[in-house]
Amino acid sequence: MSESQLWDRVDDYFTTHLSPDDAVLDAALRDSEAAGLPSIAVTPSQGKFLQLLAQIQGSRTILEIGTLGGYSTIWLARALPEDGRLISLEYSAKHAEVATRNIARAGLDRIVEVRVGPALESLPKLADENPAPFDLVFIDADKVNNPHYVEWALRLTSAGSLIVLDNVVRSGQVADADSKSPDVLGTRAAIELIGSHPRLSGTAIQTVGSKGYDGFALARVLA
Ligand code: SAH
Ligand code: DHB
Ligand code: MG
Repeated sequence: MSESQLWDRVDDYFTTHLSPDDAVLDAALRDSEAAGLPSIAVTPSQGKFLQLLAQIQGSRTILEIGTLGGYSTIWLARALPEDGRLISLEYSAKHAEVATRNIARAGLDRIVEVRVGPALESLPKLADENPAPFDLVFIDADKVNNPHYVEWALRLTSAGSLIVLDNVVRSGQVADADSKSPDVLGTRAAIELIGSHPRLSGTAIQTVGSKGYDGFALARVLA
């Protein structure tokens, strides 16, 4: 058995017992695929991990950057109370449309708002609305802009908030000093920003599973 087959098998085992089939989440993935969206949503185990983080955090408000078909959005929004709020930013009108349908089927349309456009345009507009600080920010969009997204997350959160970045390992590319990939450089800039910022305490955890070898960075806002 290859290493990746083993990771798949273990991921299947954990998913079967810890985040079992859910008709609404399955339908979200099925309709995303049918609409031609790329299959790059978080895995069920990762979705459950995000949901647990949001619950541990006691989150009432969540900001997501990168909606795709709304799969991670549904996991996160289910952690919120009935009067909670999740704003998800998505560049692609088509992705946002698919996500909006998936979110409505999940019964979360009163809690979740998907905003279409480049996140670096949506974020200043959001800041102008002076929203209450977000308890959790999940950054999962174009990796080249990761340092900007961390900066915006800092502006839109307060002490105790949690910032989570997806895909910080990318099969080990993050530590390849020769990499010229803008995505890798963006992620590395974000990691180094987290490490050097006086208002952030962070770590990164490597993961394997059905999406291969990757990882999450977590940063707690200190002040
Ligand atoms: N969080 C999703 C996956 C997101 S995939 C999940 O796990 O279910 C990344 C998404 O970011 C894609 O839908 C892509 O269209 C979007 N994206 C890419 N560049 C963006 C930008 N500049 N602003 C906002 N969204 C962007
Ligand atoms: C890609 C993006 C993601 O957010 C992810 O989790 C996996 C892959 C991608 O653009 O290839
Ligand atoms: Mg991702």
